[in-house]
Amino acid sequence: MTLLTYRSAAIDIEPGEDVLSALLRAEIDAPHSCRAGVCQTCLHRAVEGAPPAAAQEGLTEAQKAQGYFLACVCVPKTPLTVIPTDEAAARSEVIVRAIDRLSGDVARLYLEHGPDFSYRPGQFLELITPEGLGRHYSIASVPEEDPHVELHIRLHRGGRMSGFVSEQLSPGDRLHVAGPLGTCFYEGVDPGQPLTLVGAGTGLAPLMGILRDALRRGHHGPIRLYHGARERAGLYLHDPLEALAAKRENFTYVPRALSDPGPEGGDVAAAVLEQELALKETAFFLCGGERLVGRLKRDLFMKGASLKQIRSDVFLAAN
Ligand SMILES: Cc1cc2nc3c(=O)[nH]c(=O)nc-3n(C[C@H](O)[C@H](O)[C@H](O)COP(=O)(O)OP(=O)(O)OC[C@H]3O[C@@H](n4cnc5c(N)ncnc54)[C@H](O)[C@@H]3O)c2cc1C
Ligand code: FES
Repeated sequence: MTLLTYRSAAIDIEPGEDVLSALLRAEIDAPHSCRAGVCQTCLHRAVEGAPPAAAQEGLTEAQKAQGYFLACVCVPKTPLTVIPTDEAAARSEVIVRAIDRLSGDVARLYLEHGPDFSYRPGQFLELITPEGLGRHYSIASVPEEDPHVELHIRLHRGGRMSGFVSEQLSPGDRLHVAGPLGTCFYEGVDPGQPLTLVGAGTGLAPLMGILRDALRRGHHGPIRLYHGARERAGLYLHDPLEALAAKRENFTYVPRALSDPGPEGGDVAAAVLEQELALKETAFFLCGGERLVGRLKRDLFMKGASLKQIRSDVFLAAN
């Protein structure tokens, strides 16, 4: 029985192997990045057969109904005929309008986009250089209020996109973006329910979008934003967030820097677990590194939070 067909060619797939690995082994240049079901770069479409539910997690109902699935987490049990797709993550051109530094190793990018690019704050996009290098970044801006898409880019030592952004990119340059992708945005949240946003490092980017979107949509339940960093300088929006908390009665900002000996020092996950009490009623958004997001998701669930009320984006490195 042929378990995997790509266009019209039968592809050899080992028991337990995922579709992406089988396609790459067959020397098909299938796009991919995280290989963990997060970034959606490996989106494919099944034109015959039904992909397993696990391969459609995080996709919209419309995408699921049309047979879209994530090849890197799709281990077929029944025959599938698949085709590549770039329609779901259409590319468009953007113009760099400004670049500045939020901290020593975080750059902020403002991109002008055309009318064909629409997004929800907190979603992410793939930023693509003229040489075709693609990396994922979350959107911190709010389309109804901001003229440009805002990204916060952590500059990794030796990182290819990091080097490009810090050394080559200038205002006026043209790039491409694909997307937007992801479901980490303010949707399905009751405006009166507690809303808790937790991020580490540039995990703050999508949370800023979600926070501003929630306030704009009249969220009146308590909102708490926890931001963690290794050092104090990593709390790169400390002052504006503190000012916002002073102005908005239902908003609390909880900064935590690991190496800081003062009251704002310590582990951000520990602060969340200590301070969050109404776990059953709260909508959570968790963004940032794999360790923080994975650990918090598990601990919040163990303490009574509903998994359906926890949304997250894990900032995995590209593979
Ligand atoms: C859904 C999603 C949303 C994301 N949103 C953002 C965002 O808003 N802001 C942001 O700064 N990043 C974000 N990321 C992470 C970003 O895409 C990666 O960090 C990317 O690999 C950086 O590209 P680079 O070319 O600079 O470094 P690369 O050339 O890919 O990597 C260089 C070195 O740094 C290490 N490295 C790279 N990224 C990470 C990481 N995240 N954690 C630990 N080590 C790493 C690599 O292992 C490698 O050793 C997101 C990722 C995903 C999947
Ligand atoms: S979701 Fe498959 S490569 Fe990222």
